[in-house]
Amino acid sequence: MLRTHTCGELRKKHVGSEVRLCGWIRRLRDIGGVIFIDLRDRYGRTQIVIESGADFFDEVKSLSSQDVVCVEGVVRARPDDMINPEMETGEIEVVATKVELLNESKTPPFVIEDNINVQEETRLRYRFLDLRRPIMQKNIILKHRAMQSVRNFLSQNDFIEIETPFLTKSTPEGARDFLVPSRIHRGKFYALPQSPQLYKQILMVSGFDRYFQIVRCFRDEDLRADRQPEFTQIDLEMSFVSQDDVIQLTELMMAAMFRDTLGIELKTPFMRMDYFDAMRRFGIDKPDLRYGMELLDLTDYFKGTEHRIVASALEKGDRAIALPVSADLSRKEIDSLTEFVKSEGAGGMLWFKFKGGKTSGQLSKFVPASMLKELKPDDPSTYLILLGPDIEVHSIAGKLRVEVANRLKLTENMPNEWRFLWVVDFPLFEWNPDENRIEPAHHMFTAPHEEDIDKLEIDPLSVRATHYDLVLNGVELGSGSIRIHNRKLQERIMKIIGFSEEEAQKRFGFLLEALEYGAPPHGGIALGFDRIVAMMAGVSSIRDVIAFPKTTAAQALFEGAPDRVAEEQLKELHIKVIYDEEEN
Ligand code: AMO
Repeated sequence: MLRTHTCGELRKKHVGSEVRLCGWIRRLRDIGGVIFIDLRDRYGRTQIVIESGADFFDEVKSLSSQDVVCVEGVVRARPDDMINPEMETGEIEVVATKVELLNESKTPPFVIEDNINVQEETRLRYRFLDLRRPIMQKNIILKHRAMQSVRNFLSQNDFIEIETPFLTKSTPEGARDFLVPSRIHRGKFYALPQSPQLYKQILMVSGFDRYFQIVRCFRDEDLRADRQPEFTQIDLEMSFVSQDDVIQLTELMMAAMFRDTLGIELKTPFMRMDYFDAMRRFGIDKPDLRYGMELLDLTDYFKGTEHRIVASALEKGDRAIALPVSADLSRKEIDSLTEFVKSEGAGGMLWFKFKGGKTSGQLSKFVPASMLKELKPDDPSTYLILLGPDIEVHSIAGKLRVEVANRLKLTENMPNEWRFLWVVDFPLFEWNPDENRIEPAHHMFTAPHEEDIDKLEIDPLSVRATHYDLVLNGVELGSGSIRIHNRKLQERIMKIIGFSEEEAQKRFGFLLEALEYGAPPHGGIALGFDRIVAMMAGVSSIRDVIAFPKTTAAQALFEGAPDRVAEEQLKELHIKVIYDEEEN
């Protein structure tokens, strides 16, 4: 080793030792006669002192920030008034006897410190420097520790880690596939897996009983702060289990991960909520429970109202859903929120205020006394009211709830609020109005509730699924279900969502066949690992916990991907690219 210790290691007990440290110069201060180097590596920082008599004094003077050096020297206790309690090594310093420049650094395009104000594009372009910042190292190390915790927990619970292919056949999870052309099989393509869903089910048929994998998944979809084209799942599957078994195991795993990485004891079991309950109370299937503002159905109070717009909506069967905001919102704020709900598809928004024991505003004359008596609004409060068909109107009100919470900064300064929630009993199918067809709400391998199977063909949209989502503070962390393990039932579901028998056979024949050879009842879940770590790290984008992420335009800025390839390579793959004119 070039070094005897790391930059985070030396303490008072080392005083008098001869040591050799390697690291990057964080800061170099020449205070006339003495030079101080703040030397940093992954483990911490150590103060190096170069005294004026040193024959390498002038050489050191010419070094600069981010140069890599190796320092030999003797550990010395700092005088009491020079002890730095902020630094773990703050009680000592190293008096250099030799300083060797291992490699110099150009001036970095941004300061290698935690709180910097730099465009993310620049950080991603120079990711090797961005990752040198302590905060990024902390995030990446946190992810490592979380990963080890999951591995240990699952291994101790009899799960077997099994790899599944990346070059595979299309696996439907609702996004577009990334395709890989085959050189050997002209005109044919592999698809990168959107998840190992089918493989993990087949491993249950093979009798592995408990499988897990911390695995990369690939999805070509619109990117956001919590979505990447390649991301990591904690993927697991279990045989001979009920929904409760998977839920319980997942809770224990999350508790272990939080304990091992953050030292936090989570309270289990987590709360559970029925899907429709979540939709009616919060207008969303992943409610943030850190704040209240539950939606209120005011329809019955407005029955027989003289307010023209409300009356005609209720006549059509619409519902009047209110978001009660415990604040005296200004007219400007209300107008801007009206614009917001319009952009989300609402026709408009009505409102009234309750302040000083009195109502005011647009709807105030139409608020029945019985309503105020029963609802007991906070004083002051503003009620924002939307009209529309059941669930549809809840959904817009749910978005409004999140928007208001963001604008009022309700979740700021809540670093240790971990409001886990299981959302259960999702519908098996949902209606896709754009394509005018029924599609699976989760994926087509999810089993319907036993008692709803008879309704499959008669009233498919009313069938409930054995599908559960894990939600934390308004973020969907994971999704899972009990699977169909019977070929006939699987074929019925495929038919309902519009697959012909031939098509089902062509795309999923291998699964259907496996289901005929003693497939055990099984179920599982996949958790978005990047999302979990981002929340544990307290960062708002999963890009901050992925060493080499893509931008929201799906580009890798630092290595420069995607990129054109040589004509020769394309030829081998039998591919001819038609470039747009301006691209040539
Ligand atoms: P699902 O598609 O819901 O389920 O994915 C599971 C979890 O993966 C995370 N996730 C993502 N994270 C980052 N970027 C993305 N583009 C992205 N897409 C999804 C989310 C999500 O909850 N095979 C099923 C699971 C199962 O049924 O066992 C599946 O993949 O946190």
